[in-house]
Amino acid sequence: MPTLPFEIITIILLMLPTETLVKFQCVCRAWRDLIRDSMFIKEHLQIRASKGKGYLLYVPMAHDTGRAFKLLCERTFEQVLEIDIPFQPVEMSLIIIGSCNGLLCLSDTERFGTTIYLCNPYIRRYRVIDHPITGVVGSSNPRNDSITLGFGYYDKTNDYKIIRVVAPSDEHDDYLDLSSEHHEIAQNTKVEVYSSIINSWKNVEVESFQWSMFDVKSELVVCDSIHWKAFCRDTNKDVLVILAFHLGNETFQQIKLPNYDVDEEDWLEYVGLYKGNLSLFLFHQVDHQHPWQEQCCYLWVMKEYGVDSSWTKTLTITVDPGIVRPLVFTRDDEMIFADADQDLVVCHFDSSTAKIVRVEEKGYLNFATYVDSLVLLEG
Ligand SMILES: *[C@@H]1O[C@H](CO)[C@@H](O)[C@H](O)[C@H]1NC(C)=O
Ligand SMILES: *[C@@H]1O[C@H](CO)[C@@H](O)[C@H](O)[C@H]1NC(C)=O
Ligand SMILES: *[C@@H]1O[C@H](CO)[C@@H](O)[C@H](O)[C@H]1NC(C)=O
Repeated sequence: MPTLPFEIITIILLMLPTETLVKFQCVCRAWRDLIRDSMFIKEHLQIRASKGKGYLLYVPMAHDTGRAFKLLCERTFEQVLEIDIPFQPVEMSLIIIGSCNGLLCLSDTERFGTTIYLCNPYIRRYRVIDHPITGVVGSSNPRNDSITLGFGYYDKTNDYKIIRVVAPSDEHDDYLDLSSEHHEIAQNTKVEVYSSIINSWKNVEVESFQWSMFDVKSELVVCDSIHWKAFCRDTNKDVLVILAFHLGNETFQQIKLPNYDVDEEDWLEYVGLYKGNLSLFLFHQVDHQHPWQEQCCYLWVMKEYGVDSSWTKTLTITVDPGIVRPLVFTRDDEMIFADADQDLVVCHFDSSTAKIVRVEEKGYLNFATYVDSLVLLEG
């Protein structure tokens, strides 16, 4: 039987959908080795990404409402796929830490930050990451330590990294309350990084960590850096900033927020991406006295990454009455909100149009943008 040169076969395989390649591993040893090769996986991902087909993924946070990842089409918001969670978490209440190239980083509420999962739901592959170095950082009750996680991909070394920041804290035991604010600047904060290449953790030396994390997970990855909201101790008060961790040189850098509360206060700040730029979405706490009123939200865009003076108030968005909380920025410059009935409303930033999305589940849902890929098939 005449056969094609292997280079041509490689080019053809690179064009095929993820699920087809998973099946084609069985064709022969050579195909299997090729499909599992990390450079092939990376190239395949780039080709898929250039086609711009993506999903919005969600998983219910409460354990009694479902045990599957649901994938919605990014444009129509129709459910296209349901994938059972391929591993057995300690607790079914999963929190999505981040989503990158088809790989999710998750942890559960029971052992938050101690048992972490890397999972590619599309190809049903996962890795359980436990044994961080720190584990306990010496406070009298390690369950009171506040752990913050971040997840990102560093392209230059083809490495997926998990950042774990542990602040010993005897003050509060409410670190899983996603809305709580951790105002205490903790001493002796420990930082460690997991690398998927070496499949283990290492300590990162930080001379003096002067921030306290606002949330338990990162907000977004842009310009090779993971970003969180954090408080920085100024002379006598805590100032909200964006804390960036560069995935290459593994150092922290602080980004100041624009001066947005001159006219009004009580904003909730959401960090996201707008047309590829770091941005800040400002949303008001729901006014329970006037829940029927429309409210104005603002989008500030950092035109030049890392340059504090380039923050620009770019859009004013009016959201319908009844909207209670923003959930996620989509890749299409939209924001998804939950209303009081837990229905989802998508608002397009540029056109200011809103539409309702129907999903099966109600309650607290973790959302992430998602693309299918072969990542984690290696080996
Ligand atoms: C830690 O949290 C527990 C409740 O989980 C609480 O009883 C205790 O006072 C906290 N502080 C210390 C120092 O353990
Ligand atoms: C790390 O890299 C970023 C981006 O290139 C740069 O802005 C920062 O100064 C670097 N930090 C160190 C300590 O080299
Ligand atoms: C995003 O940043 C780039 C430069 O990094 C800039 O050219 C572009 O205008 C910015 N876009 C917006 C919407 O600010």
